[in-house]
Amino acid sequence: MSAAPQPRPLRAGVVGLGMMGRHHVRVWDESVPGVELVATADPDPDTLRRTTAGRRARGYADAERMFAQEELDLVSIVAPTSLHLPVTLAALRAGANVLVEKPIAATREEATSMIAAAAEAERMLTVGHIERFNPAMRELRRRLVAGELGRIFQIHATRLGPFPARIRDVGVVVDLAPHDLDIMRYLVGSEPIRIYAETERRIHTEHEDLFNGIMKFANGVIGILDINWLTPTKRRTLTVTGERGMYVADYIDQDLIFYANLDAAQVWRRRGDDGTGVPVTSVAEGEMTRRLIRREEPLVVELTAFAQAVREEGPPPVEPHDAMVALLLARKMVESADTGQVIDGRALAEVLS
Ligand SMILES: NC(=O)c1ccc[n+]([C@@H]2O[C@H](COP(=O)([O-])OP(=O)(O)OC[C@H]3O[C@@H](n4cnc5c(N)ncnc54)[C@H](O)[C@@H]3O)[C@@H](O)[C@H]2O)c1
Repeated sequence: MSAAPQPRPLRAGVVGLGMMGRHHVRVWDESVPGVELVATADPDPDTLRRTTAGRRARGYADAERMFAQEELDLVSIVAPTSLHLPVTLAALRAGANVLVEKPIAATREEATSMIAAAAEAERMLTVGHIERFNPAMRELRRRLVAGELGRIFQIHATRLGPFPARIRDVGVVVDLAPHDLDIMRYLVGSEPIRIYAETERRIHTEHEDLFNGIMKFANGVIGILDINWLTPTKRRTLTVTGERGMYVADYIDQDLIFYANLDAAQVWRRRGDDGTGVPVTSVAEGEMTRRLIRREEPLVVELTAFAQAVREEGPPPVEPHDAMVALLLARKMVESADTGQVIDGRALAEVLS
């Protein structure tokens, strides 16, 4: 009996080979099954030479020429955010499916044009919201969807660290908060109805470097964002508190720890069931359990999911509309801090539409 024929490898290319782009090159070239990295593009000759050294992929100074010559199935767009729109449109016109790095674009209008162009070209457009592909986050989501925490009360994101010298064009809110705003909507499964933020410029005076935001969701969950570029150590955690206990996910260590509410656990044990629907009337310290996580590089998980979705003609791993909402929510947070106003009602509904 002859073996089933293998599908041909998908042809991948990367545009923009800077700090993040070189990781896309490495992962496409070394870690995604069924994909061949065939081309890369960057106008900077030194960057191009350094990134393609020792690899079979061809290097182009001009992305448009690469699209014209290579018949790519998959393209990672990792150029500066101001170029996401023109490069995405060119890639889609050439028939490629596109994963564009976050933030999806600089403005709502740009993001909307990209989404429309993908629909017209009948190609996939997805966005590199990498935290969704962190194994600790995937496990946390699986457990929340299974109802392990019961009702969720609060979700608290901490994203602290020193200032990255290469970021000059935006402040800490637009650079980092879209990660947490996206994860919160993704986990809570409800939309924000009210947001409020405070920001400060403490050391880096061009843009804000300290941000605290609050987001109230329609289902009553309160989201708290604590993000800065002022902390001499990197900390990236997400804490979810619910009636059955608390989960703490650590993005850097890919750890997930559960702190049980002992009283809730005892109520359910007495009833001999999983406690669904039983009201929890008190909270006490219970066992702490470290969940088993199979650690993987999030970018490998992300690009593998993109290639698989293209092969199976499935939905994009991250809907571009969600990525646009994350960006616009971050901008509303900046507006709230600048004006001292709570943002709700129609102003917030427009962001989500
Ligand atoms: N998902 C994440 O966590 C994450 C992390 C870092 C950066 N990013 C995003 O990735 C993108 C790139 O960021 P970076 O930090 O790698 O920037 P970078 O400045 O290090 O690299 C950008 C590269 O793009 C190249 N470039 C400029 N014009 C180009 C063009 N016309 N065609 C092709 N290449 C061009 C530059 O020469 C440079 O090599 C940004 O959108 C950024 O927001 C996402």
